[in-house]
Amino acid sequence: MTQVSVPVLDFGGQTAQLLVRRVRELGVYSELLPHDATETAVHALNPQGIILSGGPASVYEPGAPQLPAWLLTADLPVLGVCYGMQLQSYALGGQVAPPAEREFGPATIEILDEHALFTATPREQLVWMSHGDRLEALPPGFHPIARSANSPFAAMGDDARRWYGIQFHPEVVHTRFGRELLRNFVHGVCGCGSDWQASSFVSDAIERIRAQVGSGKVLCALSGGVDSAVAALLIHRAVGDQLTCVFVDNGLMRLGEAAQVVETFREHFYVPLVAVDAAEEFLAALEGVADPERKRKIIGEKFIRIFEREARRIGNVQFLAQGTLYPDVIESKAPDRQKGVTIKTHHNVGGLPADMQLKLVEPLRYLFKDEVRAAGLELGLPEDWVWRHPFPGPGLGVRILGPVSWERAETLRRADAIFIGELRAAGLYRATQQAFAVLLPIQSVGVMGDGRTYADVIALRAVTTEDYMTADWARLPDDLLARVSSRIVNEVPGVNRVVYDISSKPPSTIEWE
Ligand code: XMP
Repeated sequence: MTQVSVPVLDFGGQTAQLLVRRVRELGVYSELLPHDATETAVHALNPQGIILSGGPASVYEPGAPQLPAWLLTADLPVLGVCYGMQLQSYALGGQVAPPAEREFGPATIEILDEHALFTATPREQLVWMSHGDRLEALPPGFHPIARSANSPFAAMGDDARRWYGIQFHPEVVHTRFGRELLRNFVHGVCGCGSDWQASSFVSDAIERIRAQVGSGKVLCALSGGVDSAVAALLIHRAVGDQLTCVFVDNGLMRLGEAAQVVETFREHFYVPLVAVDAAEEFLAALEGVADPERKRKIIGEKFIRIFEREARRIGNVQFLAQGTLYPDVIESKAPDRQKGVTIKTHHNVGGLPADMQLKLVEPLRYLFKDEVRAAGLELGLPEDWVWRHPFPGPGLGVRILGPVSWERAETLRRADAIFIGELRAAGLYRATQQAFAVLLPIQSVGVMGDGRTYADVIALRAVTTEDYMTADWARLPDDLLARVSSRIVNEVPGVNRVVYDISSKPPSTIEWE
């Protein structure tokens, strides 16, 4: 492999994946690897340096993840971030201890002497701290580079060894010169160029798919969203008609979506496509089920069983392709990320049955959403598809809170179509990264004409986000919200109230389930 990288070893910090993103934004390939990844696995990425992420543990706690022993003799530049820095220190003979007070939030650091890590940044700068322990004494060979009021060693380094540690988080936007610091590390210290782009991923991915699939047959689960479309196009480029796409209508798609997906994919993409109408089957399996995680598992398992059925029909299929993205992998506690906490089981990662017969092909497993879009444009996917808001695998199943039924799905479909139609008409579809309606499991009292109503409530959700890992609620214009509300109550039978969700992620999530 000629492509170089600066991988991030994952010690379980909530923003570990942001480190990966920031490095890629600098034109250098990166992946998040488990902290105990083998030396061989790390070297397979042709690393020019290593970043150690933050994490929730204390270095001296029993069972706390430790610095991999191979790193000590690897002769690679290392940047330890927060817990990563404490590990460097602990492993090399420095001293780490709990401070009198935990440090969380903004802090000002002062750079002690000019240093390559802080090239082109001011002597005093605002950073974001989030740590319990701190460094009390540097390991031999290290010198202090920066300090803050609470951290005498806010940054440290051993220039001969090219090992650096910082107590703050350069990956979050609140660290004013975080990008510059990472640039100084990956370009300056590690000596990487800036050759990597999401589009260069396309040719690599095609090669990797060919190597994995050989002459085998692949089924691709097509949802109509940008992810599975890009996955399908990549695989089709790689292995041609060894690929068959399967689109399953689970009865939980949006208004008119099922017909549109089939038509567009057959006409535009010339990819062999089997359409399966499985609405009844899904709704029967979901009857009476209200628990979000159970719904996700049921829907995920049904999908797989249907694909297995289709695979048998086609005959001799060994692979199942999915448009799984990096954030899905990270948030779902997939096997290659053991340290995070499960937030929700995205069905295309965590909900796969243990006895599944097909092997997975996931060409987008290491890409962020905007990188998938860039790859989609490169592959000639029409802009309209490329910029579609994401739609979760379990579809309306996780937007109908409480038990799912065909009637409730119909109610939600109509409300959602009105919302999205008005959003587009106002020219604001692209200004939000995800917008949808949610059907709540409660009824409320209203008055319509001269009569009392006791009917359903629709919540509208619209968010702005860079990466779907964090998000803010969209400040939509009042008159747009008023129009949407009035149309929903007037045009959707059984709804008498509309509310707007003003929660950010965290602490909420984008979907309600
Ligand atoms: P949350 O709700 O976790 O969602 O903030 C983050 C992004 O992921 C989408 N999402 C899913 N996508 N399968 C998917 O393919 C799933 O099970 C799933 N659950 C959530 C969600 O729509 C948002 O874009």
